[in-house]
Amino acid sequence: MKHPVKVYLDKGKTYHFCTCGKSADGVLCDGSHKGSVFSPKEFIATRNAEALLCLCKKSTCIPYCDGTHARRQKLDLNFLLD
Ligand code: FES
Repeated sequence: MKHPVKVYLDKGKTYHFCTCGKSADGVLCDGSHKGSVFSPKEFIATRNAEALLCLCKKSTCIPYCDGTHARRQKLDLNFLLD
């Protein structure tokens, strides 16, 4: 399970969220995506504040964490019926 990363964002500053998962910190683009089909998602911070940025890349409100990483996967228990 990949937990979100807490970062401090500066209001009005433009950030580039890593969508490939290969950047050194996993959340902000450092150019490691070059040569892949991925490209960073640009966003502008709307306030000076800490934010939890998604590391699992499955949030519905990228770049922010929505708790998707913590949802339990549905277990396949069909083997019990055999
Ligand atoms: S390093 Fe991941 S999108 Fe740039």
